[in-house]
Amino acid sequence: MRRPEIRTPLPGPKAAALIEQDAQYVSPSYTRVYPLVAEKGEGLWIRDPDGNTFLDLTAGIAVCTTGHCHPRVVEAIKHQAGQLLHMSGTDFYYTAQIRLARRLAELAPGAEPHKVFFGNSGAEAVEAAFKLARWHTRRDLNIAFFGAFHGRTMGALSLTASKVVQKRHYSPLISGITHVPFPSCYRCAHGMCADRCGTECVQWIEDVLFRTCVPPEEVAAVFVEPIQGEGGYIVPPPRFLAALRALTAKYGIFLVADEVQSGMGRTGKMFAVEHFGVVPDVLAIAKGVASGMPLGAMVAKADLMDWEAGSHASTFGGNPVSCAAALATIDLLEETLMANAAARGEQFMEGLHALQQSNECIGDVRGKGLMIGIEIVKNRETKERAPDWRNAIVQAAFAKGLLLLGCGENTIRISPALTISAEEVDTSLTILEEVLRSMTG
Ligand SMILES: Cc1ncc(COP(=O)(O)O)c(C=O)c1O
Repeated sequence: MRRPEIRTPLPGPKAAALIEQDAQYVSPSYTRVYPLVAEKGEGLWIRDPDGNTFLDLTAGIAVCTTGHCHPRVVEAIKHQAGQLLHMSGTDFYYTAQIRLARRLAELAPGAEPHKVFFGNSGAEAVEAAFKLARWHTRRDLNIAFFGAFHGRTMGALSLTASKVVQKRHYSPLISGITHVPFPSCYRCAHGMCADRCGTECVQWIEDVLFRTCVPPEEVAAVFVEPIQGEGGYIVPPPRFLAALRALTAKYGIFLVADEVQSGMGRTGKMFAVEHFGVVPDVLAIAKGVASGMPLGAMVAKADLMDWEAGSHASTFGGNPVSCAAALATIDLLEETLMANAAARGEQFMEGLHALQQSNECIGDVRGKGLMIGIEIVKNRETKERAPDWRNAIVQAAFAKGLLLLGCGENTIRISPALTISAEEVDTSLTILEEVLRSMTG
């Protein structure tokens, strides 16, 4: 079994020197939770400048779907770079953007034709959805969920309700957005559990919100992460999205599925909405779509994408090299990686549920495919959140060469490349078990 190799104190001398320079020149707004300097990546493995190797369960925040530097993605990038680096798809035509648009349009759930707008990031995909919904419906208001993360540009930030630090000092943001509770079966605001859930969260929107303060005929869109990501990797109850679909359809409101984190095969299906049998009006896609090259896409039903020429565009959006990387990524996802995500996800869940048996601090294990959250609590009965323990686990795992990230207040996220092998899952579980044992004595 290959294990991470940690040869120096962390950070090692070369990494420490780079981090010192970083502190001098790079924005202090970034949130580095431990001192990893990534120098080379291959598959699931990262090497730092001091020769330490790490097993990466973050995939660069759920981005490197095909593993670090997959040879076929690298080859596609090299080939495209030799043909055309940039021409701006907003003003000209080129093959890679057209081919990718067709591919994404065909992948979008639902039988209707779709069209694609390209940007460079998740936030831009969300911004595009925000603007299209207003343009098409001529309505001002929007609804999003508490815990949601939709990005950091002013429009996407206005929809975000994940951590207050992300919004502090940035007001006034875009007005007319109402946040409502996202259903968490582990912590249901209505005192339900998944089996008894009557989608009270959705009913509440209609019965309370729409009757008291938000006229439904003025709502342009509801933005939802089909599985909430930064908010804590929260899987909603099975009927939630279908109920939301029915509600939005009833009032002519766009249902925008933000699949920036949950999409592109991560959950074992191309898009997480497919687990729930729901067809949204718009999909926001980014992160995993191009294996690490910057790309965002807003995919909408063709009859809804009726805005006029000049109403929205982006110089770099749909860059040919990013599009080539995305086409290679989608091939790999369809050939084997989506199926691998489903299989390795089950293996992970089984191992984590076994760990939960012997570790009181694991309150909840949830997820689909390789989008898995482990919620850390002080007490299983009271479900008191344990952010300090969660942070300590992430740090201790780093010291052993296992790269994890948190999400939500007290959850550990598992979001590795979809290329992860059965052996790499076992190694991860073994290290996690060692970390938990060392912490509980
Ligand atoms: C669900 C979701 N939407 C949007 C974004 C924003 O993406 P980006 O950071 O590429 O702008 C993120 C990023 O974490 C995300 O998880």
